[in-house]
Formats: sequence, structure tokens, C-alpha cells
Amino acid sequence: MKASWTYVDGLPGLNSQLDSWLLGILDAAAAPSGARYRPAMALNAANSQNAALTVSAEPVQAGGTVVAVRQKVSETGSDGTRTVSSAIIYADTVFGEVHRAAELLRPEAKGRILAQASGVPASISGSFAQGPTLDDVVLTSSGDLQVTTERPAGRGQSGREDTTTIAAADTLATLSELGHKILHQLQAPAAPPPATAPALRHINCDLIPCAALSYDDGPDPKTTPRLLAILKEKNVQATFFMTGSNAIAAPATARQVAEAGHAVGNHTFSHPYLTKLTPAAIRSEIDRTDAAIRTATGSAPSIMRPPYGAADAAVQSAVGKPLIIWAIDSLDWQSKNPAVFVPKVLKEITPGAVVLMHDIDATTIAGQQELITNLQAQGYRLVTVPQIFDGTPLLSGHVYRSRPERK
Ligand code: NI
Repeated sequence: MKASWTYVDGLPGLNSQLDSWLLGILDAAAAPSGARYRPAMALNAANSQNAALTVSAEPVQAGGTVVAVRQKVSETGSDGTRTVSSAIIYADTVFGEVHRAAELLRPEAKGRILAQASGVPASISGSFAQGPTLDDVVLTSSGDLQVTTERPAGRGQSGREDTTTIAAADTLATLSELGHKILHQLQAPAAPPPATAPALRHINCDLIPCAALSYDDGPDPKTTPRLLAILKEKNVQATFFMTGSNAIAAPATARQVAEAGHAVGNHTFSHPYLTKLTPAAIRSEIDRTDAAIRTATGSAPSIMRPPYGAADAAVQSAVGKPLIIWAIDSLDWQSKNPAVFVPKVLKEITPGAVVLMHDIDATTIAGQQELITNLQAQGYRLVTVPQIFDGTPLLSGHVYRSRPERK
């Protein structure tokens, strides 16, 4: 299967509609094997690509607070015939509402529009059980309707798409109240949706095989910028668990990390075993680090990682943030050898995993190019910790190691 789609920042309603639509198609494609879709099925896709199915979802128009997205599925049967189905989804960036194109039309006008678009008399078109539908309707800012209908594939014959434009004069009487509201929006300049920080941009790791690379114990003014350059070149977003003492020692580097769009986490001030401290001392470690990171980057982290992964019930209740441990420990600090830790991570990686490394070791930096190149070649999308858990809650005082499997 080939799939391409675009999320719209700041439109959670549209993005989650897109996700469930795609997961529905992927589940159906996986069903013959008796399984539900898992992101691992998309790994090494070059070897097992089923080119018969193509799925896409791309914005086609925007105006005011409304964005319209065309969702399209094209399937080639074993006899070479092609069936296509497409739908336009209208989403409002302010109210978060998501509507199908048919909702823009008056129910009583649909038969006539369909007849005009398909060239079939209205009296007959209403009786087609498998006939053309009004899913793909683009409402232009001038009020024209561009109606694309699909003719289902016949025996040995491909389905066909026809687009008919219905002039505005006909349109005004056929729009529903919602249709008029959306037309009004489409006639205004497109308002940019609210800005989303790169580290938080929507991605659904139930769909895509993801991994979250995380780097602890920095920032370090020498090694961290070298890592940032590699991440930028490879187009990777990662997570940096900083200590408060290092954020105070290298505030410019801490700021550079945040400005590059990476996620920043709290790794305590002085890197102690939190399990050996009183609740008040734990709080002080967290609070001083929040303050140091806020001073350097402009905002305090919402996630934390206890040094050595050491946490118990007392630590969990004292830290006041979600505790992000890891699923894969590279042991980079122990081997100090890319020839050891890179193969270890590549062997243990699974979709949804958080990977532990350290950006204060030059030998860790030396292995990143190879590690990232290999993970991306396998099909992994490398994302931040907030992104890998997108759509699943991250609760204060709870411990997380990898994204839970979709239920
Ligand atoms: Ni550490």
C-alpha cells in the first residue's frame, strides 16, 4: 500500500478523523491475514509493498477558518480494473468541527445535484443502490459546486471519475445552513490555524512505526551542538532530558536545543538517586531544574526522567510530572563504542520504543549518523517523547517506557 497524507496543525478534530479513516483502511487490508493493523507491518515496506492500494489525504482549499481535505482511496483489482473513491472533509479551525461534503447540501436538493453531475435523470438516480454519491463536492469561494462522481468498475472495466461544475446561480438554493456558513468562511482570507511547537506536532504512532531517541545529562556546549547538527541534517526531532546544573552552566546550548524544535525534559538538578531523598528534597531537585530550564529556554518541561531510572512510589508521587523511562537502553556510556551500541539498539528496536542515550559523550555523537540512517531505512519515523505518546494520556506520577499498543 502507498499512503500519503497531511495533518493540519491546530486541527485535532480533522487530524483524528484522518487517523481513524486511515486505520480503518489499514485494518481492512490486514484482516485477511487474521490480524489488525500494527505499525510494525509498515517496516521494511520496500520489500512487501502492495502497490494495488493507494491512499491519500491532502488539503484542497482553505478560507476563513475552514480547511477542506480530499481523502482518496484507489485500488487496482487482480484483473487490472481500478476503483476509486474520494470524499471531501470540511474542518473548522476554530470550532474543531468536522463535516462531510453532503452535510453542506439541502437533503431535498441532493437528487437533483446528483442527476446534474452524473447525467442520469433525477427520477432514476435516486434508485441506484450502488450509484454515485455526493461525497466529493468542492464548494468554491464563488459558490460553484464541483461535484466528482465515481462510476463503479464494471466487469473488466475501470471505475471512472467525472467532475461537473454546477454554477453558483443553482447552488445558492441547494446549500444547507451549514453550507452557507462554510461558503461565508471560504470567501474570507484563510486564517492560519494556531501555531504548534514542532516537538508537539501531531503524528499518530499507531499508523507509523515511530521511535523516540532521547539524550540525557546535557546540555554540553561541546557535544550537544554537534548532535543538533546531525538531527537537523537527518530531519529528526528528539528529546533532551537536561540536568538543572548543566542548563545553568550552558544556557545558550539549552536554548539552542529548544529552538531547534526538540522536546526538553527535567532530569533533576544534581543527578542523584531520587529513591534516597526525602519528598522535600525530590521537589527541590525538580523545581530548581524547572527554573533553570525556564530561564534558559523560556518554558519549564512537562515531563521528567529520574536518574538511573530509579523511582518508587514515593518518587512517583513527589515529582509532579509523568516519569519517562525507556524501553531500550543503548548502554552508550558503558561501551563508549558505536560499533557496540548502534547494533544493540538496531537489534532491540520496536515501534513505539523510547531509546536512552547521552549527549555528553563524544562517542555517542559519533554513532548517531549511522544509527539514524539505519532506523530511517527500516521505516522508522524518529519523533519526540510527546509525539510518540500523542493520543494516549501522559499522567503525572505515572511511569512510561513505550507507546501502548492500540486496543
Ligand atoms: Ni542521567
